[in-house]
Amino acid sequence: MVHYAPGVVKGVILAGGSGTRLHPLTRITNKHLLPIYDRPMISYAIEALVQAGIGEVMLVTGGTHAGEFLRLLGNGHDDGLDRLLYAYQDRPGGIAEALGLAERFVGDDPVLVMLADNIVEHTFRPTVERFIEQEKGARIVLTAGQDQTHLRSLGVPEMDESGAIVRIVEKPENPPSGYAVTGIYCYDPSVFQVISTLEPSGRGELEITDVNNAYVARSEMEYDVLEGFWGDAGESIDAYYAVNDFVRANGANKG
Ligand code: G1P
Repeated sequence: MVHYAPGVVKGVILAGGSGTRLHPLTRITNKHLLPIYDRPMISYAIEALVQAGIGEVMLVTGGTHAGEFLRLLGNGHDDGLDRLLYAYQDRPGGIAEALGLAERFVGDDPVLVMLADNIVEHTFRPTVERFIEQEKGARIVLTAGQDQTHLRSLGVPEMDESGAIVRIVEKPENPPSGYAVTGIYCYDPSVFQVISTLEPSGRGELEITDVNNAYVARSEMEYDVLEGFWGDAGESIDAYYAVNDFVRANGANKG
């Protein structure tokens, strides 16, 4: 069995999209530059990856404010990264399409992908460590305790009696479990072959849930359930403020 060497996992942070759910704020900036408590949202994702032991990161963004990420983050050294690279997404084509732009950066290494509007209370370093122990496949991070209405706006896994994921349903009318798929995903390098086979969904995007279901179909999908708070600050203006309130009171990315 070939294990990945520690430190070899690359990071991809997805910070594109048009942020329509936060209009009109996002007409004048990128969603991921909006403040969460005392820092721009994007800083939390960078910090989360650094704490998970990831030193080489590609940030994928787009739109008219892309240059401001460079102004904020530069080469990433001040934030604890060894290397920070940037990719530009011409049009919002979905999470999986954005990840596809990082193919040459990732190369033959395993990759952790994080949606930059996801904020976590505790580090997901244990997930990265367990992923390194995996020979191949994918590993995703789930969260428990979201209500039914919220689950209908997220990816929700269906599990069998042994707890294995049998499929993931994107924005289900009838959520098949009480867990939600967060925007934190680990993949082996075959993820780019999977992306190349995808067709756009009903909303015209290459869906990350289709990528995940390809791994489920190969019986190569593992998961962890996150402890503590998880929030998607880009989901709605109320979710944005709920995340702000939480971080202000409790902090984020704690050990
Ligand atoms: C995306 C994913 C969804 C996941 C969510 C987490 O949803 O498609 O499966 O639960 O991120 O933030 P979107 O924000 O694109 O609606």
